[in-house]
Amino acid sequence: MADDFSDKKPSRRQFLAGAAALGAGSTAASSLSASDDDPLITEVQEWAQITGDGVDATPYGLPIEFEKDVVRRNVGWLTADTISSINFSPIHALDGTITPQGCAFERHHSGAIELRKEDYRLMINGLVDQELVFTYEDLERFPREQHVYFCECAANTGMEWAGAQLNGVQFTHGMIHNMEYTGVPLRTLLNEAGLNAAGDLKGKWIFVEGADASSNGRSIPMEKALDDVLVAFKANGEALRKEHGYPARLVVPGWEGNMWVKWLRRVEVLDKPVESREETSKYTDTLADGMSRKWTWAMDAKSVVTSPSPQSPISHGKGPLVISGLAWSGRGAITRVDVTIDGGENWYEARLAQPGTKMALTRFYLDIEWDGEEMFLQSRAHDETGYVQPTKEELREVRGLNSIYHNNCIQTWWIKSNGEAENVEIS
Ligand code: MTE
Ligand code: CO
Repeated sequence: MADDFSDKKPSRRQFLAGAAALGAGSTAASSLSASDDDPLITEVQEWAQITGDGVDATPYGLPIEFEKDVVRRNVGWLTADTISSINFSPIHALDGTITPQGCAFERHHSGAIELRKEDYRLMINGLVDQELVFTYEDLERFPREQHVYFCECAANTGMEWAGAQLNGVQFTHGMIHNMEYTGVPLRTLLNEAGLNAAGDLKGKWIFVEGADASSNGRSIPMEKALDDVLVAFKANGEALRKEHGYPARLVVPGWEGNMWVKWLRRVEVLDKPVESREETSKYTDTLADGMSRKWTWAMDAKSVVTSPSPQSPISHGKGPLVISGLAWSGRGAITRVDVTIDGGENWYEARLAQPGTKMALTRFYLDIEWDGEEMFLQSRAHDETGYVQPTKEELREVRGLNSIYHNNCIQTWWIKSNGEAENVEIS
């Protein structure tokens, strides 16, 4: 589907010649905005004449008040109540790739529960040599690993199938976070219980469930369970927040967020999938003919420009402009991101801030000299399997309009000459 749209040769347009001339980190002096008689330079400021706060003021730090708008937000009509609820990461205002836990999106099917470490139990049962129950302390005594992975809700961008709908990248793409997890490989715990009783592991499954009322039960093929799945108890170095499944959650790299069971309480080894509610009536993709696809676990390669975007308009007028965004793939590492400013006529290879790593967010930049004209900004991700992110039209041709989940199409922002941005579709 996505193979047949090849790159067109870049045009020799002025702004990109300018971009090429700009060395990394250099800004044309004429576009710097402070003036010679700026009192912020010529006067001694109040904050230099008095002492600041002492170190005891914030035993656990919060962002400075000027950043108070950089918070999770929800969409009223999507969150009817706060029990089955969703909110979105403010990705328009973040840079780098790590999502601070304090503004990482949350999705709860029956609210966030408060579970003390002392009350935590993880059972492994079913086709194992010895059924086991681990306490939190037990988990801490197994060799642990650290990995950075993204978690994307299968419903991310799900409101955009039929047309451009939500005006902000936080709302169209913010059901994603990317953290450094510390945890014990699930493989280690399954081996502790012993898998001989299961016989040939091919065709075997695990069923995982959480301790909350929804239990959010999901079946996972044994091959994945023994590969890279983690039982994680730390994110970005600190304990998981209550809302992310404290004290322990499942991390299922690259696979839809729904499988990342929070407050993980049980892993059952089975010879067939359970076909639970969460994998039949939910988290399946209804196609144009009304048939539903199931087992669409991996999140396909996707990217989006986070700035400029509707919540992050251009405020500085024409001249040097940093275009920035995020790319990710549930099937491996991002190898390349292309950006267009003219709705796909010309594509330019973006600069990856760091080489892509497996199932983690990759930050990209395109530094241009903006001529002040309107732009139709898009980004297109490539992953290590050779897969290329499809356009909305290409995706609709295959999937129709009945789907909610797994919308990884190319997003368009219309950047107007006044710097404001709008979510649009172009064809
Ligand atoms: N696990 C439990 N126990 N209960 C839940 O409601 N929600 C799932 C998954 N795991 C859920 C759960 C869904 S749909 C998603 S997208 C992710 O958790 C969201 O994880 P987060 O809230 O840490 O962002
Ligand atoms: Co989800």
